[in-house]
Amino acid sequence: MPLSSRHLLGLQGVPKEDIQLILDTANTFKEVLARPIKKVPTLQGKTIVNLFYESSTRTRISFELAEKRLSADTVNFSLSTSSVKKGESLKDTVKNIEAMKIDMIIIRHSAAGTPFYLTKICDANIINAGDGTHEHPTQALLDMYSIREKLGKIEGLKVCIVGDILHSRVALSNIFGLETMGVKVSVCGPSTMIPRQIEELGVDVIYNIDEAIQENDILNVLRIQLERNAGENFPSLREYAKYFGITKERLEKSGKEILILHPGPINRGVEISSEVADGSNQIILDQVTNGVAIRMAVLYLLGTLN
Ligand code: CP
Repeated sequence: MPLSSRHLLGLQGVPKEDIQLILDTANTFKEVLARPIKKVPTLQGKTIVNLFYESSTRTRISFELAEKRLSADTVNFSLSTSSVKKGESLKDTVKNIEAMKIDMIIIRHSAAGTPFYLTKICDANIINAGDGTHEHPTQALLDMYSIREKLGKIEGLKVCIVGDILHSRVALSNIFGLETMGVKVSVCGPSTMIPRQIEELGVDVIYNIDEAIQENDILNVLRIQLERNAGENFPSLREYAKYFGITKERLEKSGKEILILHPGPINRGVEISSEVADGSNQIILDQVTNGVAIRMAVLYLLGTLN
């Protein structure tokens, strides 16, 4: 069964069967990644452009690795050395890249809706690698894969997304994806960082982090996005850490085992302490490892649809 769309723009409205197929396909690629020679010829002859208008470490490198592991030809667009610096528009940039006969575009951009816009102006498969505060679908897919790998299931679990929900594309993709997979999702953070009417997405809102720990199986801890002026939403980072930071003391006091995820990059000592970020409850680097397998799965499923 192929995927129901030739693009991956977000997880809103993506059917359960598609998510299941991506997670199951990633299992196969995880096996490939465990071999001494971590490469298959699946996308030989395909050309993929990584068009990152915003900075990235994990997503950009794991997409590039995934493309190389699948034997695709890859091109990395670097904003700082491109003609965008001479004033070239996004549309002209994409039309010119497409004229060089490419098959897929991985796009990260600060403007929500940019991946959808690209589907209107070019024929390549488009994958959203994060668009503004909208969605980051491959992050949510790798989060779900990592949960399933660690706990053996997704359906029926209770997941709380903690922190800067207001600016988070990871939060929105997780809410859509997890709810589709039968998870009870809640969010926790200062009221200034919880979008109004978020309950309409079917999530519960918890304002007390100790309560969130008690009531959930998993915390997905988000970074405070200082580059999007998140620091204006509470008096100080110290106060944020005191009331919402995930610390060893807080977890010990709760008296329960809880799984900790974080999409990275981490503000150590703000939303999560170093002891927890490096401790036994977390699977943060497993998430990064699984990101390559998930992106291989998405590239394979979209790249072989045409
Ligand atoms: N999680 C994530 O998107 O990290 P990067 O910004 O480093 O890609």
